[in-house]
Amino acid sequence: MKGIILAGGSGSRMYPISQVYSKQLTLIYDKPLIYYPLSVLMLGGIKEILIISNEETIPYYHKLFKDGSHLGLSIEYVVQAAPNGIAEAFILGDKFIGSDSVTLILGDNIFYGNLDFFYQGIEHNSGATVFGYRVNDPERYGVVEFDKNGKALSIEEKPQNPKSKFAVPGLYIYNNEVVKISKNLKPSPRGELEITDVNNTYLNKGELRVEKIGRGVAWLDTGTPEALLQASNFFGTIEDRQGLKVACIEEIAYYMNFISKEQFEKVIHQMPKCQYKNYLENILTGVE
Ligand code: TTP
Repeated sequence: MKGIILAGGSGSRMYPISQVYSKQLTLIYDKPLIYYPLSVLMLGGIKEILIISNEETIPYYHKLFKDGSHLGLSIEYVVQAAPNGIAEAFILGDKFIGSDSVTLILGDNIFYGNLDFFYQGIEHNSGATVFGYRVNDPERYGVVEFDKNGKALSIEEKPQNPKSKFAVPGLYIYNNEVVKISKNLKPSPRGELEITDVNNTYLNKGELRVEKIGRGVAWLDTGTPEALLQASNFFGTIEDRQGLKVACIEEIAYYMNFISKEQFEKVIHQMPKCQYKNYLENILTGVE
């Protein structure tokens, strides 16, 4: 299973900072936003990761993650020339995906809580697996219509009259067919290659699973300044209360056995004196 983080976009709702850099680099409490989706892929056991973003931002991601080897990962980078739609990720990622299956996560999507829904999705996927998460404002998202037995009947992109409260979060699991399907898509009236069109292609073939995510999981979509502030407060509160960090990628790499204790020590050693380093030193020495 390969992993793609789509972390470009126009970020128009984040103007004026979007003139300078992409929102996935902004801080969510104590670390850049992109650490959160990256940590989800890592927890899913995915070690080969492609980051897609615009030309200006790729060098910053590269500075942050390099080739990923210090985290036991292999990280590659590809430029998306313009925000032509989420499904373009599979066209740009064609070579990277090769003959594998792939999980795509949007760079501004955060999941917190029990991630069993994701682990099971990876384990059981045969065609495509997407998720349904209850939100107050479904009209902003792709919305799933379910029948009485919980089977997905349709997915509508940003409908004026949503058929349910269940939005599709930016975390999608596909078999290798997704590359071919994406290449055959036509841009939507808003000029984008729509991920909902990919999902509906699978749905029409009877190959789409839509799994509901329970209310114990937080899905935060951080596209606006308000949402960024809420997410910062949310993780600041949890981290302060528990004394444990969320989405600390070095800790996850060690916990997942992607790196040895010696490699972990080396990674910590290279950090400047700071609270983030202190935290990891405590993990290393087993002080909790
Ligand atoms: P969106 O929320 O659709 O949009 P955006 O980030 O471009 O911002 P705005 O709506 O304020 O203009 O994007 C969701 C995520 O997907 C986000 O992390 C950016 C990323 N994305 C791309 O990288 N390329 C794309 O072509 C699109 C549509 C999104």
